[in-house]
Amino acid sequence: MKLWNAGLSRRKLRYNRRMALAAEQSEPRRPGADALLAWYDRHRRRLPWRAERGERADAYRVWLSEIMLQQTTVAAAGPYFIRFLERFPDVHALAAAPSDDVMRLWAGLGYYARARNLHACAKDVSARGGTFPDTEEGLLELPGIGPYTAAAIAAIAFGRRATVVDGNVERVITRLFAVEDVMPKAKPVIRALTEPLVPAKRAGDFAQAMMDLGATICTPKRPACSLCPWDDACVARAEGTQESFPRKAAKAVRPARFGAAFYVTRPDGAVLLRRRQDKGLLGGMTELPGTDWTDRFDRKAALEQAPVKAAWRRRTGSVRHVFSHFSLELQVFAAEVSQRTRAPDGCWWSLEADAEALPSVMRKALELGRG
Ligand code: ADE
Repeated sequence: MKLWNAGLSRRKLRYNRRMALAAEQSEPRRPGADALLAWYDRHRRRLPWRAERGERADAYRVWLSEIMLQQTTVAAAGPYFIRFLERFPDVHALAAAPSDDVMRLWAGLGYYARARNLHACAKDVSARGGTFPDTEEGLLELPGIGPYTAAAIAAIAFGRRATVVDGNVERVITRLFAVEDVMPKAKPVIRALTEPLVPAKRAGDFAQAMMDLGATICTPKRPACSLCPWDDACVARAEGTQESFPRKAAKAVRPARFGAAFYVTRPDGAVLLRRRQDKGLLGGMTELPGTDWTDRFDRKAALEQAPVKAAWRRRTGSVRHVFSHFSLELQVFAAEVSQRTRAPDGCWWSLEADAEALPSVMRKALELGRG
């Protein structure tokens, strides 16, 4: 009799053996790339920037899509991606375009520094003959390309064994391994857990498979675990705690800001517009003239900042927009001025305001201004 069994009754021994066996059986399996890739081959999403199965995607398309997808959903980015490709079929065409054209085509996607970096990056790549660097280190040197995007392009366009971690991947991995660390502290842990899973072959497909898994099966709410290729590998699933990952700290409240926008028209229909300064929020984008955005709204103080003297009428309702760090509520004042009214410094009259590079919040203000 072995020493650790000494003194135990038969019944107790049988019980111990059964418990050990049960523990062994419920031990989650190691998540394998093969199972995920087989799932991807059957269920991958058809997305405009993706190559056909077995083919490698073109670096220009991968880069363009990854920049668009940095802060934007797949559904919202799709139509923009198609329009960009039609207008700028290759990196040289994009590099040669006037910056206003690029901004106009980007308008509505938000985070406009991305569009300026996109253009700068296209110029760099065009200047080096039109080929993108094929390593993460090389890609990181380009404007607008951070660690995530460099890894994604290296893997998807060049088949490099890079570790690609976006929000979807974070959710999959924290559930798979029941990572208790709170975001964003968990990021290095997630990376360390993801890296060994990446296969030497098909690293790009693996990265996109992880994204698709996160977007379609391992969703934030009510994940479809029974359809998951890693169902039997998932620690959170075994414990029934899937939805509690990734662990998050209590959300900070988003502060509110308030302001006014002025919709001024001439009898010929021209609308007064101006360009925001290059740096900062909505940098370089076109807007209706407006007040500063502050923590409360004061009608008298707002009207003192009107761009021209006029009989202002406040439109009923307001424009609300949520930025990453605050929410904004704009009152919209409308007035018509004479045809001879000069545009104040920095402003211009636009007969085709709809075609201008207006960010979404200003598009909403323009619509409310029209009444
Ligand atoms: N999100 C970011 N990049 C993506 C890609 N290549 N496919 C799907 N979703 C993504």
